[in-house]
Amino acid sequence: MKKVYIETMGCQMNKSDAERMFGMLEYCGYTKTENQKEADMFIINTCSIRKLSEDKAYSQIGVWGKIRGKYKDGENKVKFNPYPKIVFAGCVAQQYGKEVFKRAPYVDLVLGTQRLYELPNLIKRIENGERIVSVDETPYEESDIKINRVKSMNAWIPIMEGCNNFCTYCIVPYTRGRERSRNPELIIAEAKKALSEGFKEITLLGQNVDSFGKDLPEGQNLAWLLRRLNSLEGKFRIRFVTNYPTDITDELIDTVLELDKVCEYFHIPMQSGDDYVLKKMNRRYDYATYKKICDHLRSRVKDVTITSDFIAGFPGETEEQFENTLKAMSELELDYSNTAAYSPREKTVAAKWVDLYIPEDIKTDRLARLNEHNRKCCLKSNKKYVGREMEVLIENFEIRKNGDKVITGRTRNNKIVHIPCDRDLTGEFVNVKITNARTWYLNGELI
Ligand code: SAH
Ligand code: SF4
Ligand code: F3S
Repeated sequence: MKKVYIETMGCQMNKSDAERMFGMLEYCGYTKTENQKEADMFIINTCSIRKLSEDKAYSQIGVWGKIRGKYKDGENKVKFNPYPKIVFAGCVAQQYGKEVFKRAPYVDLVLGTQRLYELPNLIKRIENGERIVSVDETPYEESDIKINRVKSMNAWIPIMEGCNNFCTYCIVPYTRGRERSRNPELIIAEAKKALSEGFKEITLLGQNVDSFGKDLPEGQNLAWLLRRLNSLEGKFRIRFVTNYPTDITDELIDTVLELDKVCEYFHIPMQSGDDYVLKKMNRRYDYATYKKICDHLRSRVKDVTITSDFIAGFPGETEEQFENTLKAMSELELDYSNTAAYSPREKTVAAKWVDLYIPEDIKTDRLARLNEHNRKCCLKSNKKYVGREMEVLIENFEIRKNGDKVITGRTRNNKIVHIPCDRDLTGEFVNVKITNARTWYLNGELI
């Protein structure tokens, strides 16, 4: 059996892609290894969202490249060992295509985001010594080769891919192409399979899940899909990420309220709390509109968790505009936010506004303040639940160094809860009384 070492970076979509790649590799006779030294193949599934993630990808394959090129031939030229093979996949691969070979000549395969399912054919070819770039934007047809999911309670299931929004800072429309829905029957079959394998939660993935169905002949939508999935047998939970603020429909909210398995959780990136910056970002809403959406959700869906994403130091952002973001975070009582300092990405519109770039030290300072504010918002949000009874799906059991036995899981609204417990209840739904709130989690006890 040959061994493959897979490293994945980036969002859940990338992680889900890696599970599919590994499934295909198993089919080709590979097993997974955590030990780089014994690998016959290295795969890096890259993320391009910020420069840092791109740099990390290149430095990682640099390390692997040294293994490949460690001997020299007669003319003192570096020659590459035939093994281990190196596969450079994901969003950076899609973005740079054959240019990757210039920077990293030891790579055997550059695999774009739309060619995932071509992997079994490509593996055979690189094993025969070919070097291949496959980054065509036309998607390679899905195969039903099994998916090797990371062991957990949650199964990621992509329902749509791509983005038509072209926010001025974002590379995703260039790495994932235009919006396309997956065949709903494939999604449902995948969900059934995951449930039969013991998964207790299904998270539907897409850059903009609200766009699911727009391109399908029968015009199905996310609400329709949720209904279909909710009717599958068994006790399990359904989640979906990410929503675009102004695309959340009343029908979707009604569906979340109506369906017992669909959780009260919305991830709705806001990016900035300032109207001028939002406009420059090409987001299709202003602060007042986002607030209305948030207020509406909170008034209709009891205990809903609303999380968001924010960027600090977008080109031209003034101190006052940045403070509007801090204000927005607290005024909207956001439960949690992902934060990042703006990173210019080649091809995007904002990257051309070099004169407006915010100096690194200011960006770093703003990011730190954003994070500090985020911590306060999280703690405040968690405190709301002290004394309450909540249902927790247990995901983990551990015996800590001091001997304490603890089970950990999440509530329907996605709060992490630690509970003292002698038994491993992984996979079970338990009722818990919340006893204490910390910044990143809750403490509870079994009822
Ligand atoms: N589709 C989602 C987000 C996908 S990208 C949406 O519409 O919001 C995930 C997050 O990465 C974004 O929400 C944004 O906050 C961050 N991000 C994207 N491009 C970035 C950049 N150039 N610099 C810093 N953060 C960025
Ligand atoms: Fe990127 Fe904007 Fe599309 Fe989200 S909506 S993926 S931030 S371009
Ligand atoms: Fe990164 Fe690509 Fe996801 S750029 S965030 S891995 S869609």
